[in-house]
Amino acid sequence: MLKSHYSGDLRAEHAGIDVTLAGWVHRRRDHGGLIFIDLRDSRGLVQVVVHPDRAPDAHAAAAAVRSEYVLGVRGSVVRRSVETINPNLETGEIEVEAREIEVLNAAETPPFAVNEPTDVDEVRRLEYRFLDLRRVEMHRNLVLRHELNQYVRRFMTAHDFIEVETPALVVPTPEGARDYLVPSRLHPGSFYALPQSPQQFKQLLMVAGVERYFQIVRCFRDEDLRADRQPEFTQLDVEMAFCEEEDILALMEELFTGLVRELRPDLDIVSPFPRLTYAAAMERFGTDKPDLRYGLELFDCTSLVALSTFAVFRNAVEAGGRVRGLVVPGGAGLTRKQIDAYTELARTYGAKGLVSIQFNAKPSLAREDEIRSPVLKHLGEETARRIGARAGAEAGDLVLLAADAEKVVNTVLDGLRRTIADRSDLADPQTLHFAFIMDFPLLAWDAQEERWDALHHPFTAPRDEDLIKLEADPGSVRARAYDIVANGLELASGSIRIHRREVQERVFACLGIAPDEAQRRFGHILKAFDHGAPPHGGIAPGLDRIAMLLAGAPNIREVIAFPKTQAAVDPMTGAPAAVTESQIAELGLARTVRE
Ligand code: AMO
Ligand code: AMP
Repeated sequence: MLKSHYSGDLRAEHAGIDVTLAGWVHRRRDHGGLIFIDLRDSRGLVQVVVHPDRAPDAHAAAAAVRSEYVLGVRGSVVRRSVETINPNLETGEIEVEAREIEVLNAAETPPFAVNEPTDVDEVRRLEYRFLDLRRVEMHRNLVLRHELNQYVRRFMTAHDFIEVETPALVVPTPEGARDYLVPSRLHPGSFYALPQSPQQFKQLLMVAGVERYFQIVRCFRDEDLRADRQPEFTQLDVEMAFCEEEDILALMEELFTGLVRELRPDLDIVSPFPRLTYAAAMERFGTDKPDLRYGLELFDCTSLVALSTFAVFRNAVEAGGRVRGLVVPGGAGLTRKQIDAYTELARTYGAKGLVSIQFNAKPSLAREDEIRSPVLKHLGEETARRIGARAGAEAGDLVLLAADAEKVVNTVLDGLRRTIADRSDLADPQTLHFAFIMDFPLLAWDAQEERWDALHHPFTAPRDEDLIKLEADPGSVRARAYDIVANGLELASGSIRIHRREVQERVFACLGIAPDEAQRRFGHILKAFDHGAPPHGGIAPGLDRIAMLLAGAPNIREVIAFPKTQAAVDPMTGAPAAVTESQIAELGLARTVRE
């Protein structure tokens, strides 16, 4: 045995015993006579002290070690004198007096400090991820994910769910995100896809009589990456037979509440989880994943400015758009330059411009010289005042307005709202504000392709009472779908599914999937529906995003052991990489791109 105890586990009760430790040199301090080494292992740090007289060989060895050397240490645990107790260290009441020290492996000077938080370029961190993960806070994130997985497995098992593995090589689907494709050697010209989610398999498991399925499963999507998106990510995939919306929502509320209580008891959660309809969320926040920890709700002044002399507003309304805005509390004091910066930000979200109105007095009391706006002349003082009143602006507030197609206005104002909250620290980092978003539309119009798309996925059930409108007015049909959001992140999506062939065929038809194509691509699902499919539904929380929230991490990469960069590259292993001509030929592929 190279070690008898973990360094991080030693406590006052171990005083007097002999131990064999092994780990990494976190820090070494040479006090001329005594040498102190903070020895780190996977469970924490302990201070090792080496006397020049009592252990001359160990002292000579200790004199030569550097940060991140791997050491074996034999010695005894001793209580520290009262004045040398370190209350910041879990092992701070004791230290280990070394008798023998053996260098198990030397280490080069690390490219960045492992023993203290430093500002290092992320690509560098990913290139040396094996060192980056040694850092205390990264190690803590790995442990958190382990605990998250354990909690989930215990919880689901206690609720009679069984974990079933589904294939990673599946049939490609053109819907949803772009697939990662895997060429088949045995069937040249044919491809597997890596699963975007096990959606079809979990439904087939319901037909198979499993009734309660879950799986902690890797999913793959070739999409543009963001702070909360990786090309491969992990879902807690859940499906239940004989259930309705309320069963899934209650299960999830219990899961999330228990999870936070167990893993982050210091965080506050709002319970019961509030429910918002999709329509209300879009109206109040411009997004279906609002951060509910702060207000800054949007307001509408389309009707106020529809006949305005200000052409920007009038034209937007005439084109079928809307004029909406939000109030920046205390923003009247911002400089021209700061307001211009908001305009620039709005442009990055697709705005053509941004109108600002500063109220130095309450709108109802304001005189003309107390209302400032670059477009005040065009807008007129009376309209500006009425906008202020509609917005609920107070003296000292700034009102920002965007005029455009509804979708653009929402994107712009959601972006502004998040930025303003961020800059003014409006979001309490100690709170997890969960909410259910309900009553999504079943379909969304794709203006580019000129067709209806499934907002969630094509297996989502329409509300029974809306079914009669499916062909005549597809846009008005509501889905039996729900999301869970928290702190501005979409954590989970799910729905009650279609379980009857006739309904599924009608939805496919709405999506422009002709019967022969539906048969070819989804024949297995349709066939299953003919063999006794139970009513069923499910949901899939994203575990990386949950870990990110629980860890308080700024992005998803911090809670993934070996993530990809925003450019979908692994700087450590070099993936993706070129392959040999013979590998390409063997797969029946031809190269059209040279690196
Ligand atoms: P959906 O596509 O909404 O639903 O995904 C469910 C959850 O998975 C997480 N997620 C991601 N996390 C990190 N990186 C990504 N690229 C990424 N994409 C999705 C999110 C999201 O809420 N089969 C359906 C679920 C169902 O209907 O049961 C599905 O996959 O947290
Ligand atoms: P312009 O007519 O483009 O010179 O714009 C006049 C003012 O209206 C400027 O302050 C622009 O930022 C603003 N503006 C232009 N287009 C929009 C829009 N779609 N929504 C809100 N403000 C806009």
